[in-house]
Amino acid sequence: MSQEKDFSVEYREKVATFNKELAFFLCEEKGYEKTLYEAMNYSVLAGGKRLRPLLLLESCKLFGGEEKKALPFAAALELIHTYSLVHDDLPEMDNDQYRRGKLTTHAKYGQALGVLAGDGLLNYAFEILSEEAFKQGKSATLAMSILAKKAGIYGMIAGQAVDLFMTGKETTPEILDYINERKTAALLEGALMAGAAVAGAEGETLVCLEKIGRYVGLAFQIQDDILDVTGDEEKIGKPLHSDERNDKRTYVSLIGMKQATAQAVAYMEKALALLQTLPGEKEFLTKLLLSLTKRDS
Ligand code: IPE
Ligand code: IPE
Ligand code: MG
Ligand code: MG
Ligand code: MG
Repeated sequence: MSQEKDFSVEYREKVATFNKELAFFLCEEKGYEKTLYEAMNYSVLAGGKRLRPLLLLESCKLFGGEEKKALPFAAALELIHTYSLVHDDLPEMDNDQYRRGKLTTHAKYGQALGVLAGDGLLNYAFEILSEEAFKQGKSATLAMSILAKKAGIYGMIAGQAVDLFMTGKETTPEILDYINERKTAALLEGALMAGAAVAGAEGETLVCLEKIGRYVGLAFQIQDDILDVTGDEEKIGKPLHSDERNDKRTYVSLIGMKQATAQAVAYMEKALALLQTLPGEKEFLTKLLLSLTKRDS
């Protein structure tokens, strides 16, 4: 079996295992509000690479933590990420009809439920997180606080806001990095930091993981922007040319495909170099990061 194959098999197995665990956290579809739960579960179960939960679980493992303790955090983070996608696709934002190979939540359930399902996923994630923080104590409380900040008004939401304000405007690599650092890197930083925090890591270790997450996120968003132009709709599961249609400037429109690709690789190399400074067995994590700038979905 080739190395490449080895990795993709291992990755698929980890995703399948996580998906089974995630199913336990989904809410029951019942009551007069049943359609709300259906819309929430629909968007979560539509698929997705599950990158953030995998990063969280791997990071926890790296620092000797128990996977069982990190799982609720991984699940909650995927719910938060999914809510960000549901709202990102709304007509008032990117107005996209397909996501994860299926109709977007608002396209299937209507705009009002798109808003409510997103709200529901975010709030429900914090139900899970606060319960775990209460049960597990200090380290878990730190992990919850990290995720709150990274998903919140200085993190992902700030990035989405600046992304919106810069629509149709001339930009610079600095502004693009400012946006990407928040809208995308923040949740990846949160994944690596929260996983380690659950395992008891703190201080300088978390700062290093934050830096790694930042570079991974910057690289990941450039690759997303590349795939928006050159990807295969079937593989990426979302419509091509969303950025052009929405008049969004990206690295691709700013410096061209070739240089954008080189920039993504350069950011990922920085992430990998920092990762190697950390102790522990990092083979899967290293391969996972390497795969992100080569991905076609
Ligand atoms: C999409 O994230 C949004 C970005 C930050 C680019 P992913 O590419 O991780 O989406 P899923 O979870 O696999 O659907
Ligand atoms: C959005 O970036 C990132 C989020 C925080 C949801 P994009 O708008 O480029 O993400 P896609 O391409 O729709 O997944
Ligand atoms: Mg967007
Ligand atoms: Mg979008
Ligand atoms: Mg995109």
